Amino acid sequence: MNFHLLSIFPHYFESPLSAGLMGRAVENGLVNLDYIDVRHFAGGIHKSVDDRPFGGGPGMLLKLDPMVKALESIKTPGRIMMLSPRGKPLSQAQTRELSTEEDITLICGRYEGIDERLLDIYPIELVSVGDFVLNGGEAGAVCLIEAVSRLLPNFMGHEDSGEEESFSAGLLEYPHYTRPDDYDGLTVPEVLRGGNHGKINQWRRERSLEATLSDRPDILPEALLTVEDIDYLRDLPRTRLGRNLYIALVHYPVVNKFGEKVAVSVTNLDLHDMSRVARSYGLGGFYATTPIEDQKALAEKLLSHWKEGAGSKANPDRAEAFSKVKIFDDIEAAILDIETQTGQCPRLAATSARLDRRKEAEPALTYGEMRKWLEKAPVLLVFGTGHGLAEEVLGKAEGILRPIRFLDDYNHLSVRSAVAITVDRLIADEF
Ligand SMILES: C[S@@+](CC[C@H](N)C(=O)[O-])C[C@H]1O[C@@H](n2cnc3c(N)ncnc32)[C@H](O)[C@@H]1O
Repeated sequence: MNFHLLSIFPHYFESPLSAGLMGRAVENGLVNLDYIDVRHFAGGIHKSVDDRPFGGGPGMLLKLDPMVKALESIKTPGRIMMLSPRGKPLSQAQTRELSTEEDITLICGRYEGIDERLLDIYPIELVSVGDFVLNGGEAGAVCLIEAVSRLLPNFMGHEDSGEEESFSAGLLEYPHYTRPDDYDGLTVPEVLRGGNHGKINQWRRERSLEATLSDRPDILPEALLTVEDIDYLRDLPRTRLGRNLYIALVHYPVVNKFGEKVAVSVTNLDLHDMSRVARSYGLGGFYATTPIEDQKALAEKLLSHWKEGAGSKANPDRAEAFSKVKIFDDIEAAILDIETQTGQCPRLAATSARLDRRKEAEPALTYGEMRKWLEKAPVLLVFGTGHGLAEEVLGKAEGILRPIRFLDDYNHLSVRSAVAITVDRLIADEF
């Protein structure tokens, strides 16, 4: 396999790519490294490869002409990739796919990067090695070359090594141990010394599942899991962000379609569906708020039918869901209730189907930010009936969550759907 490396510092590669198995693969011709020093293609007396960016700003840019000439000098460039923090993140799946290529050209940027027009001239794929900024593309190119080369047949000597590793099955790898089996009282797990391969495989699978759930729960949704895996995961202790999330459905003050402040009636369907979401996602609680006495009485009657009355006998699951619901006058009463239960004052966040276009409005709260809030403290997330929460409620919130489908103009979900989608985005199965 041939890697063509375009760089203004080709000597950078000498040491990392000559060590260990990588060095051996280069020596025995499994991997061929073709260094192209971009400086050799620079014109003028100064042979300069960089220049100042149009529009100002700090730093210098690599110029187009030496890059184009350097690329033209490669007879069989194959796939042309440029290391860039703007690129698609490199993944194990992509390294597998790249390992079947004959030629790969890697362009390494330096300074502020490369004149953008290079992307208009060649079909270049941008690839990133992570959400951080390096000084140059060379370190990223080394990562890519190593990750791809080690998947080539004969690179490692034993062909199954690549199959068992982290990410190969969508899970992190299990821990390994070697001799001595007792290091100052730290012993190697008994099962690994027993020689029972069925048990060893099961132990390894379980450790992989545990490590993934605890350290990279974000990759679990894509992992191929058996029913046994899922049963095992269910019993593991995990951070349950849902416990800190409380939702409120406000029936007053909300606005109607003319933007006027109104009260909206409590509905049976909202109470049922939102309490089921609250129970399914293990939320701290669900408050339905209305200051109107006969509405509160109606809601309480509904609750008691499902919690204690005939409904609870006919459908105990629903009784369990309704145990999450409380009816209060307003969100202040809900806040006090959470404080009494948890000893902490909850942070208040609101939801809206519309973007907050008030002058100097803060950028909308993201789901990720709110997930961070949930790691530390209880949060009361408020939903509105009618055409949404009145200004006086929105104004009290510390943040307003970004609308669902914020890139589209039709955004008229029922509050029940909005609650289900929002809670799922925040909590999902793995948190
Ligand atoms: C200082 S960086 C330029 C950063 C650029 N101004 C930006 O903010 O996106 C110089 C070069 O390092 C490489 N580089 C930096 N971070 C990288 C990353 N995370 N993945 C891949 N390449 C990276 C790229 O080749 C880039 O052109």
